[in-house]
Amino acid sequence: MDSIRIRGGKPLQGKIEISGAKNAALPLMVASLLTEETLTLSNLPHVADISTLITLLCQHGATAAMNGQSANGGSDGRSLSINAKSITNTEAPYDIVRKMRAGALVMGPLLARIGKARVSLPGGCAIGTRPMNLHISGLEQMGAKIAITGGYMEAEAPEGLKGAEIRFETVSVGATENLLMAASLAKGTTTLEIAAKEPEITDLVRLLCQMGAKIEGEGTDRLVIQGVDNLHGTHYRVMPDRIETGTYAIAAVITGGKIELTNTEAELIRAVLDALIETGAEIEETENGFIISRENGTIRGVDIMTLPYPGYPTDMQAQFMALMTVADGAAMITETIFENRFMHVPELARLGANITVHGHSALVRGVDHLVGAPVMATDLRASVSLVLAGLAAEGETVINRVYHLDRGYERLEEKLAACGADIERIHVS
Ligand code: UD1
Repeated sequence: MDSIRIRGGKPLQGKIEISGAKNAALPLMVASLLTEETLTLSNLPHVADISTLITLLCQHGATAAMNGQSANGGSDGRSLSINAKSITNTEAPYDIVRKMRAGALVMGPLLARIGKARVSLPGGCAIGTRPMNLHISGLEQMGAKIAITGGYMEAEAPEGLKGAEIRFETVSVGATENLLMAASLAKGTTTLEIAAKEPEITDLVRLLCQMGAKIEGEGTDRLVIQGVDNLHGTHYRVMPDRIETGTYAIAAVITGGKIELTNTEAELIRAVLDALIETGAEIEETENGFIISRENGTIRGVDIMTLPYPGYPTDMQAQFMALMTVADGAAMITETIFENRFMHVPELARLGANITVHGHSALVRGVDHLVGAPVMATDLRASVSLVLAGLAAEGETVINRVYHLDRGYERLEEKLAACGADIERIHVS
């Protein structure tokens, strides 16, 4: 299992090109199951979750071809064509779905197109129980019959899915995506209320409309979908990764450096940038991104609370906590989306951070400096928070279990090294 070694304390200076968004690309890829024609996606990030989902789609019978790596090795030219003309297998096995919860998104499209699906329950994960009840009850309201047997959701809709008025009890990105896709090919009109408004949902709505779907309410929490008989193939460019953008923005601030982020948009992470400005960062928007710096002065302690979009994103909570460990003063960090998303706290403490957790809140008292140590993390964003802390810490930090980072960050060590970070991957066979 590979590790990453960082010798911290260097202010980062330079430019980072942001990759396409993993969390947008995954549902867009699943949408290929809705049509017999070819769907081509460009600006695809080269990360492990994408490869895992390709494996899943291919075992449903789709064929996939990846091409177009850009000359500079960036993500720009990479594109993936998926054709699901014939679906030969409607089972999404445990071995794949347990690794990547987004695999469960195939349930809506398979039901809508073939009338049946057998999808493994994803199970719990490090950040919480993450149930599927909203996906299941939404599809049931659309006429599906779903039984849970042997760890699988066995779903059937022999007469096809029909439109329904669905009101979610909580905001769920995945359930909104699953039902959006199912409703696009259902008979009649479906209304989704209290729908998630994350930019990745908007990306999916735009793709589906380009494939011929009829959807109103883009960017709002009420989506109205008029089902159509068929969808067609298209070519679509995946949006920039807002979480990667925010992560590198914090890398600039925590090291007291200056980084230009390109191929992205400040608007996608406004809540994060607002918090960073409060800490003392300076931001200058550019034509295709922004420049972020904190070249002088201390980092001020700032409270945040995670909320559905456009609030502060839960996927940026661990990174902000890493920043607050070296703030001047204290910060209260409250997690409202997941019940157990403070797994990074004991690891940050190994680097010298002073953090007390009370239920859903963590009180971070800033320390003068962190000192490098071996650490490890149990999920993607927690791992990257340790990278950020390592960049700021004195001495050497070794982050183990790098496969979590590889699920979601494309060429992380290369991008940071290009800005002057002393970072390397240690291959362990
Ligand atoms: C997606 C993102 C993930 C992000 C999360 C919240 C992808 C691949 N993953 O995950 O990175 O952290 O949104 O922004 O896009 N819930 C239920 N019942 C359900 C479904 C969800 O109670 O049927 C709960 C969850 O346990 C959680 C909350 O709703 O507490 C939000 O989860 P959800 O938005 O569904 O997250 P994901 O789509 O899994």
